[in-house]
Amino acid sequence: MKFFIDTADIAEIQDLATTGMVDGVTTNPSLVAKSGRDFKQVVAEICEIVPGPVSAEVTATDADAMIAEGLKLCEIAPNVTVKVPLTWDGLKACRALSDDGRMVNVTLCFSANQALLAAKAGASFISPFIGRLDDINLDGLELITEIREIYDNYDFDTEILAASIRTVNHVSECAKIGADVATAPPSIIRKLIEHPLTDKGLEAFLADWEKTGQKIL
Ligand code: G3P
Repeated sequence: MKFFIDTADIAEIQDLATTGMVDGVTTNPSLVAKSGRDFKQVVAEICEIVPGPVSAEVTATDADAMIAEGLKLCEIAPNVTVKVPLTWDGLKACRALSDDGRMVNVTLCFSANQALLAAKAGASFISPFIGRLDDINLDGLELITEIREIYDNYDFDTEILAASIRTVNHVSECAKIGADVATAPPSIIRKLIEHPLTDKGLEAFLADWEKTGQKIL
């Protein structure tokens, strides 16, 4: 499973990129607003750090304007993925941009039918928002399972990009269900490694090694 980082925070991206595990980055207007920085400049900087797909979202709401914005964003770097919302206009823009050879991430997906439409519109990625479904007492992970089944039934190439991930268990469950990508905030990515028995075991190994008085180098 690929890991994308869901942030517009350059320092966080730079730091996590050193693990070699960052396959891409997703941003959205809310994350850009949180960064307080110029959108296109931030996207350019992210694209320099991470060679994989970097999602940058259009803000127009009609198809022609979305296409124009998408093409403008694609001028920033070859790894820009145009993010469009799951509306009819967004799907029309998705088809046009995809036919033009651009990567498109269709976002704000909350149902299997929406995901089916995005795949038929040629989306490179579909972004089901797990956490926001859980927020309203629905089952975000169940949606990932449904989309996996539908995409496999018809051999759609669209990658399932699980988004709105709020917990470490969301990540492991998405991996079990077969999501192609998980995009998560830096705080969740950092927590994936945590286990008290790892910390305790390492502490004991180091204490015993200290007693030997030996050095490897
Ligand atoms: O990738 C989408 C993500 O940014 C939304 O997350 O936590 O705002 O639902 P959240």
